[in-house]
Amino acid sequence: MWRPLSAIVFLMAICLLTAYDDYSYVGLMQSLDELAQHHRDRITLREVGITYQDRSLILAMITNGDGRLGKRVIFVVAALHGDWMSVRAAFKTIKDLVLDFQDNADLLADFDWHIMPLANPDGYEYSRKLTSNFRWSKTRTRNNVDCIGTNLNRNFDVGWGVGFPELHDPCDQNYAGSAPFSEVEARTVRDIMQNLIKSERGVMYLSLHTFLRSVIYPWVYNSTWVPNQGENIEIAKFVTDQIFIRTGKVKAVGVQYGRKSGDTSIDYAFKMGFPLSFACEMSGLDRVNNLVICIRAFGKKAIEKYPPSRPIHQSEEHRPTKNSASRNWDLAPVL
Ligand SMILES: *[C@@H]1O[C@H](CO)[C@@H](O)[C@H](O)[C@H]1NC(C)=O
Repeated sequence: MWRPLSAIVFLMAICLLTAYDDYSYVGLMQSLDELAQHHRDRITLREVGITYQDRSLILAMITNGDGRLGKRVIFVVAALHGDWMSVRAAFKTIKDLVLDFQDNADLLADFDWHIMPLANPDGYEYSRKLTSNFRWSKTRTRNNVDCIGTNLNRNFDVGWGVGFPELHDPCDQNYAGSAPFSEVEARTVRDIMQNLIKSERGVMYLSLHTFLRSVIYPWVYNSTWVPNQGENIEIAKFVTDQIFIRTGKVKAVGVQYGRKSGDTSIDYAFKMGFPLSFACEMSGLDRVNNLVICIRAFGKKAIEKYPPSRPIHQSEEHRPTKNSASRNWDLAPVL
């Protein structure tokens, strides 16, 4: 009697372990590789950087395979804070766009999607190993003898280090780093943004988080209205309405953060020239699905607002950024 039973227990344990492992950095990257190998005409992977602990930063470029190059781009970055659920939402979105590309034809007709599903793999892997409820949201760079890690969403160069004292405490989860762009992960996101702006393809930047229930638009740094504030409010309302309609209950708010907290990626993307730059923050049990709804609603609105006939007006603030590298990836999908 004990033999079959222990065999079953053993098999169940294996299943649990494998399921767990699918979400490890290695497991996720393998599934992404497989997807790309089977659908070469619709998804191209690029290694765009290497982290402090030697992990690849991967950008997934998704197109509908019609062979048209140089389409406008929606750039989505998940897990600057290593949060698991935003990683899953990004993977789900990648799979939906690649596998159900016919159902998603409208999202891909005139736009490509560039998705970085795991922007902070070092922090992600570390927090997977933690047994307590404490969440690690930084990188794993060593700051000094005692303290490790920089908060990537405080490492961008718009009002860097302004806001509250913890930004300068190397031991705090809000540590902004030793300088703007001290972290390779933030530099990599910056350089992709710069590429997309230079090639006049970048329309929307979307940063995924799992803490609040909000969609957030610039500035985070202060409460000055940006020139397209009206459009931002309209888009935020559309997205939060969609989330409510589709879930039947989740009420998210659209806000301009405006709280003198510097160094976020959405402020930076806007300053660089993405006319639309938002964060999507979902909390609660169903946050993966809610994030997916949020991403799709944003995509739909970006496409509606920026048909090929509308020029991409760079924001007034736009100027070449002083400390960005002139890396030149070819960000067109390989056909
Ligand atoms: C608010 O922050 C943005 C981004 O740094 C800046 O361009 C703008 O001038 C600021 N507004 C004020 C009133 O300081």
